[in-house]
Amino acid sequence: MTGRSAFVVGWPIAHSRSPLIHGFWLKRHGIDGDYRAEAVPPDAIDAFFASFAERGYSGGNVTLPHKEAAFRACGRLTPVAERLQAANTLWLDGETLSGDNTDLYGFTANLDENVSDWRGGERALILGAGGASRAVIEALIAAGFGTVDLLNRTPARAAALAAHFGKAVRPGGLDLVPKLLPSADLIINATSAGLHDDAGLAIDWQAARSSAIATDLVYVPLVTPFLAAAADRGLRIVDGLGMLLHQAVPGFERWFGVRPEVDAEIRALVVADLAR
Ligand code: ATR
Repeated sequence: MTGRSAFVVGWPIAHSRSPLIHGFWLKRHGIDGDYRAEAVPPDAIDAFFASFAERGYSGGNVTLPHKEAAFRACGRLTPVAERLQAANTLWLDGETLSGDNTDLYGFTANLDENVSDWRGGERALILGAGGASRAVIEALIAAGFGTVDLLNRTPARAAALAAHFGKAVRPGGLDLVPKLLPSADLIINATSAGLHDDAGLAIDWQAARSSAIATDLVYVPLVTPFLAAAADRGLRIVDGLGMLLHQAVPGFERWFGVRPEVDAEIRALVVADLAR
Protein backbone atom coordinates (compact mmCIF):
# COMPACT_ATOMS: atom_id res chain seq x y z
CA MET A 1 0.00 0.00 0.00
CA THR A 2 1.25 3.46 -0.85
CA GLY A 3 1.39 5.77 2.12
CA ARG A 4 -0.09 9.22 2.39
CA SER A 5 1.81 12.28 1.22
CA ALA A 6 1.69 15.89 2.33
CA PHE A 7 3.56 18.98 1.16
CA VAL A 8 4.76 22.36 2.24
CA VAL A 9 4.48 24.85 -0.59
CA GLY A 10 6.22 28.23 -0.70
CA TRP A 11 8.42 30.45 -2.85
CA PRO A 12 11.24 30.11 -1.93
CA ILE A 13 11.00 26.93 0.14
CA ALA A 14 14.58 25.69 0.57
CA HIS A 15 14.88 27.14 4.09
CA SER A 16 11.74 25.41 5.40
CA ARG A 17 12.18 23.15 8.42
CA SER A 18 8.71 21.64 7.98
CA PRO A 19 9.98 18.52 6.10
CA LEU A 20 12.38 17.86 8.98
CA ILE A 21 9.61 18.22 11.57
CA HIS A 22 6.99 16.12 9.80
CA GLY A 23 9.58 13.57 8.67
CA PHE A 24 10.59 13.07 12.30
CA TRP A 25 7.01 12.54 13.42
CA LEU A 26 6.30 10.11 10.57
CA LYS A 27 9.27 8.04 11.66
CA ARG A 28 8.44 8.27 15.35
CA HIS A 29 4.93 7.00 14.75
CA GLY A 30 5.96 4.37 12.20
CA ILE A 31 3.68 5.89 9.56
CA ASP A 32 4.13 4.90 5.93
CA GLY A 33 3.90 8.41 4.50
CA ASP A 34 5.97 11.30 3.33
CA TYR A 35 6.12 15.08 3.47
CA ARG A 36 7.86 17.04 0.74
CA ALA A 37 8.80 20.64 0.00
CA GLU A 38 7.32 22.12 -3.19
CA ALA A 39 8.75 25.32 -4.65
CA VAL A 40 5.93 26.97 -6.59
CA PRO A 41 6.05 30.56 -7.90
CA PRO A 42 3.04 32.87 -7.49
CA ASP A 43 1.91 32.52 -11.11
CA ALA A 44 1.59 28.73 -10.74
CA ILE A 45 0.10 28.49 -7.26
CA ASP A 46 -3.58 28.33 -8.23
CA ALA A 47 -2.86 25.43 -10.60
CA PHE A 48 -0.94 23.69 -7.81
CA PHE A 49 -3.85 24.01 -5.37
CA ALA A 50 -6.24 22.70 -8.05
CA SER A 51 -4.15 19.63 -8.86
CA PHE A 52 -2.31 18.43 -5.76
CA ALA A 53 -4.65 15.47 -5.27
CA GLU A 54 -3.78 14.20 -8.76
CA ARG A 55 -0.17 14.33 -7.69
CA GLY A 56 -0.91 12.00 -4.77
CA TYR A 57 -1.12 14.51 -1.95
CA SER A 58 -3.69 14.37 0.85
CA GLY A 59 -2.97 17.98 1.73
CA GLY A 60 -0.22 20.19 3.02
CA ASN A 61 1.10 23.36 4.54
CA VAL A 62 1.29 26.72 2.85
CA THR A 63 3.95 29.28 3.65
CA LEU A 64 5.02 32.68 2.33
CA PRO A 65 3.91 34.19 0.03
CA HIS A 66 0.94 31.89 -0.67
CA LYS A 67 -1.25 31.97 2.47
CA GLU A 68 -3.70 34.50 1.00
CA ALA A 69 -3.87 32.63 -2.33
CA ALA A 70 -4.62 29.45 -0.36
CA PHE A 71 -7.39 31.26 1.48
CA ARG A 72 -8.94 32.35 -1.84
CA ALA A 73 -8.63 28.87 -3.35
CA CYS A 74 -10.50 27.12 -0.53
CA GLY A 75 -14.14 26.16 -0.84
CA ARG A 76 -14.40 25.64 2.90
CA LEU A 77 -12.53 27.38 5.73
CA THR A 78 -12.35 27.06 9.49
CA PRO A 79 -13.63 30.12 11.38
CA VAL A 80 -10.08 31.09 12.32
CA ALA A 81 -8.85 30.96 8.70
CA GLU A 82 -11.88 33.02 7.74
CA ARG A 83 -11.03 35.63 10.37
CA LEU A 84 -7.35 35.78 9.40
CA GLN A 85 -8.08 35.79 5.63
CA ALA A 86 -5.17 33.39 5.21
CA ALA A 87 -4.74 29.60 5.22
CA ASN A 88 -1.61 27.62 6.07
CA THR A 89 -3.04 24.08 6.30
CA LEU A 90 -4.98 22.42 3.46
CA TRP A 91 -6.80 19.14 2.92
CA LEU A 92 -9.58 17.77 0.76
CA ASP A 93 -12.99 17.21 2.26
CA GLY A 94 -14.48 14.99 -0.44
CA GLU A 95 -13.64 17.16 -3.43
CA THR A 96 -13.71 20.44 -1.57
CA LEU A 97 -10.42 22.16 -0.90
CA SER A 98 -10.51 23.03 2.79
CA GLY A 99 -8.27 25.31 4.81
CA ASP A 100 -7.31 26.13 8.35
CA ASN A 101 -4.91 28.63 9.85
CA THR A 102 -2.82 27.19 12.69
CA ASP A 103 -0.60 30.23 13.30
CA LEU A 104 -2.86 31.48 16.09
CA TYR A 105 -2.87 28.03 17.67
CA GLY A 106 0.94 27.79 17.34
CA PHE A 107 1.49 31.16 18.99
CA THR A 108 -0.86 30.31 21.85
CA ALA A 109 0.41 26.77 22.41
CA ASN A 110 4.02 27.98 22.52
CA LEU A 111 3.22 30.42 25.33
CA ASP A 112 1.02 27.88 27.14
CA GLU A 113 3.90 25.42 27.08
CA ASN A 114 6.59 27.84 28.27
CA VAL A 115 4.95 30.56 30.40
CA SER A 116 1.56 29.23 31.42
CA ASP A 117 0.67 32.38 33.41
CA TRP A 118 0.82 34.57 30.27
CA ARG A 119 -2.98 34.49 30.01
CA GLY A 120 -3.24 36.55 33.18
CA GLY A 121 -1.77 39.57 31.39
CA GLU A 122 -3.80 42.71 30.77
CA ARG A 123 -1.70 44.73 28.34
CA ALA A 124 0.28 43.49 25.37
CA LEU A 125 2.68 45.39 23.14
CA ILE A 126 3.15 44.10 19.58
CA LEU A 127 5.99 45.42 17.44
CA GLY A 128 5.24 44.98 13.75
CA ALA A 129 2.05 45.03 11.70
CA GLY A 130 2.90 42.64 8.84
CA GLY A 131 1.27 39.40 7.84
CA ALA A 132 2.13 37.58 11.06
CA SER A 133 0.71 40.19 13.42
CA ARG A 134 -2.94 39.53 12.74
CA ALA A 135 -2.84 36.01 14.19
CA VAL A 136 -1.02 37.37 17.23
CA ILE A 137 -3.71 40.01 17.85
CA GLU A 138 -6.46 37.39 17.55
CA ALA A 139 -4.60 35.13 19.98
CA LEU A 140 -4.17 37.92 22.53
CA ILE A 141 -7.81 38.93 22.40
CA ALA A 142 -8.87 35.28 22.76
CA ALA A 143 -6.56 34.97 25.77
CA GLY A 144 -8.29 37.89 27.46
CA PHE A 145 -5.87 40.79 27.02
CA GLY A 146 -7.76 44.06 27.51
CA THR A 147 -5.36 46.32 25.61
CA VAL A 148 -3.14 45.50 22.65
CA ASP A 149 -0.78 48.27 21.55
CA LEU A 150 0.19 47.66 17.93
CA LEU A 151 3.27 49.66 16.95
CA ASN A 152 4.88 49.63 13.54
CA ARG A 153 7.73 51.40 11.74
CA THR A 154 5.09 52.50 9.22
CA PRO A 155 2.25 53.69 11.49
CA ALA A 156 -0.33 53.68 8.69
CA ARG A 157 0.05 49.93 8.37
CA ALA A 158 -0.63 49.50 12.09
CA ALA A 159 -3.72 51.68 11.75
CA ALA A 160 -4.99 49.63 8.80
CA LEU A 161 -4.58 46.38 10.72
CA ALA A 162 -6.08 47.76 13.93
CA ALA A 163 -9.17 48.81 11.95
CA HIS A 164 -10.17 45.11 11.75
CA PHE A 165 -10.51 45.05 15.52
CA GLY A 166 -12.26 47.04 18.21
CA LYS A 167 -10.95 49.78 20.48
CA ALA A 168 -8.79 47.34 22.45
CA VAL A 169 -6.23 47.38 19.61
CA ARG A 170 -4.43 50.72 19.57
CA PRO A 171 -2.14 51.51 16.63
CA GLY A 172 0.93 53.74 16.60
CA GLY A 173 4.53 54.21 15.56
CA LEU A 174 7.65 52.70 17.14
CA ASP A 175 8.35 56.08 18.78
CA LEU A 176 5.70 55.10 21.35
CA VAL A 177 7.71 52.12 22.64
CA PRO A 178 9.33 54.01 25.57
CA LYS A 179 5.90 55.29 26.67
CA LEU A 180 4.08 51.94 26.47
CA LEU A 181 6.78 49.47 27.48
CA PRO A 182 6.53 50.09 31.27
CA SER A 183 2.91 48.91 31.44
CA ALA A 184 3.20 45.90 29.10
CA ASP A 185 2.79 42.38 30.53
CA LEU A 186 3.70 40.72 27.23
CA ILE A 187 5.92 42.16 24.49
CA ILE A 188 5.93 40.50 21.07
CA ASN A 189 8.37 41.10 18.25
CA ALA A 190 6.45 40.43 15.04
CA THR A 191 8.83 42.44 12.85
CA SER A 192 11.48 40.89 10.66
CA ALA A 193 14.11 43.17 12.24
CA GLY A 194 16.69 40.97 13.93
CA LEU A 195 16.51 38.24 11.33
CA HIS A 196 19.94 36.83 10.60
CA ASP A 197 22.56 39.54 10.86
CA ASP A 198 20.19 42.46 11.24
CA ALA A 199 20.94 44.31 14.47
CA GLY A 200 17.25 44.40 15.35
CA LEU A 201 15.13 46.99 17.09
CA ALA A 202 16.78 49.41 19.48
CA ILE A 203 14.70 49.11 22.65
CA ASP A 204 15.64 50.46 26.04
CA TRP A 205 14.52 47.56 28.21
CA GLN A 206 15.31 49.29 31.51
CA ALA A 207 11.77 50.68 31.58
CA ALA A 208 10.16 47.24 31.22
CA ARG A 209 8.62 45.35 34.13
CA SER A 210 10.86 42.53 35.26
CA SER A 211 7.71 40.38 35.59
CA ALA A 212 6.92 40.85 31.89
CA ILE A 213 7.35 38.22 29.18
CA ALA A 214 9.03 38.81 25.81
CA THR A 215 8.53 36.60 22.78
CA ASP A 216 9.72 36.74 19.17
CA LEU A 217 8.20 35.18 16.07
CA VAL A 218 11.66 35.00 14.48
CA TYR A 219 13.62 31.83 15.33
CA VAL A 220 16.78 32.36 13.24
CA PRO A 221 18.74 33.04 15.34
CA LEU A 222 16.96 31.23 18.14
CA VAL A 223 17.79 33.97 20.63
CA THR A 224 17.29 37.15 18.64
CA PRO A 225 18.89 40.46 19.70
CA PHE A 226 15.37 41.42 20.93
CA LEU A 227 15.13 38.37 23.22
CA ALA A 228 18.74 38.61 24.39
CA ALA A 229 18.24 42.21 25.51
CA ALA A 230 14.96 41.35 27.26
CA ALA A 231 16.64 38.47 29.11
CA ASP A 232 19.45 40.80 30.21
CA ARG A 233 16.83 43.00 31.84
CA GLY A 234 15.50 39.93 33.69
CA LEU A 235 12.35 39.27 31.65
CA ARG A 236 11.23 35.75 30.85
CA ILE A 237 11.70 35.04 27.17
CA VAL A 238 10.06 32.57 24.78
CA ASP A 239 11.68 31.97 21.39
CA GLY A 240 9.80 31.55 18.12
CA LEU A 241 10.77 27.95 17.42
CA GLY A 242 7.98 26.62 19.63
CA MET A 243 5.41 28.43 17.47
CA LEU A 244 6.79 26.73 14.35
CA LEU A 245 6.62 23.32 16.04
CA HIS A 246 3.14 23.75 17.51
CA GLN A 247 1.57 25.19 14.32
CA ALA A 248 2.62 21.96 12.57
CA VAL A 249 0.61 19.71 14.91
CA PRO A 250 -2.97 20.10 13.58
CA GLY A 251 -1.96 19.46 9.94
CA PHE A 252 -0.03 16.30 10.78
CA GLU A 253 -2.99 14.98 12.73
CA ARG A 254 -5.35 15.74 9.85
CA TRP A 255 -3.24 14.10 7.10
CA PHE A 256 -1.75 11.19 9.02
CA GLY A 257 -4.30 10.50 11.76
CA VAL A 258 -2.04 10.82 14.79
CA ARG A 259 -1.65 13.91 16.97
CA PRO A 260 2.12 14.36 17.34
CA GLU A 261 3.82 15.75 20.40
CA VAL A 262 6.08 18.78 20.62
CA ASP A 263 8.82 17.68 22.99
CA ALA A 264 12.51 18.15 23.76
CA GLU A 265 13.57 15.63 21.14
CA ILE A 266 11.97 17.35 18.14
CA ARG A 267 13.06 20.72 19.41
CA ALA A 268 16.68 19.54 19.70
CA LEU A 269 16.54 18.15 16.17
CA VAL A 270 15.47 21.50 14.71
CA VAL A 271 17.87 23.48 16.91
CA ALA A 272 20.74 21.32 15.59
CA ASP A 273 19.60 21.93 12.02
CA LEU A 274 19.37 25.69 12.59
CA ALA A 275 22.95 25.66 13.87
CA ARG A 276 24.23 24.13 10.63
P1 ATR B 1 5.32 39.12 7.79
O1 ATR B 1 4.25 38.81 6.81
O2 ATR B 1 6.25 37.97 8.07
O3 ATR B 1 4.87 39.78 9.04
P2 ATR B 1 5.96 41.56 6.46
O4 ATR B 1 4.53 41.64 6.10
O5 ATR B 1 6.99 41.88 5.44
O6 ATR B 1 6.30 40.13 6.99
O7 ATR B 1 6.19 42.45 7.74
C1 ATR B 1 7.43 42.70 8.26
C2 ATR B 1 7.27 43.58 9.50
O8 ATR B 1 8.57 43.90 10.00
C3 ATR B 1 6.60 44.91 9.22
O9 ATR B 1 5.87 45.27 10.39
C4 ATR B 1 7.79 45.82 8.99
O10 ATR B 1 7.53 47.18 9.21
P3 ATR B 1 6.95 48.09 8.00
O11 ATR B 1 5.48 47.77 7.90
O12 ATR B 1 7.20 49.49 8.44
O13 ATR B 1 7.71 47.72 6.78
C5 ATR B 1 8.72 45.30 10.04
N1 ATR B 1 10.13 45.60 9.85
C6 ATR B 1 10.96 45.04 8.95
N2 ATR B 1 12.22 45.49 9.11
C7 ATR B 1 12.18 46.39 10.14
C8 ATR B 1 13.17 47.20 10.79
N3 ATR B 1 14.45 47.19 10.42
N4 ATR B 1 12.76 47.97 11.82
C9 ATR B 1 11.47 47.98 12.21
N5 ATR B 1 10.50 47.22 11.65
C10 ATR B 1 10.85 46.45 10.62
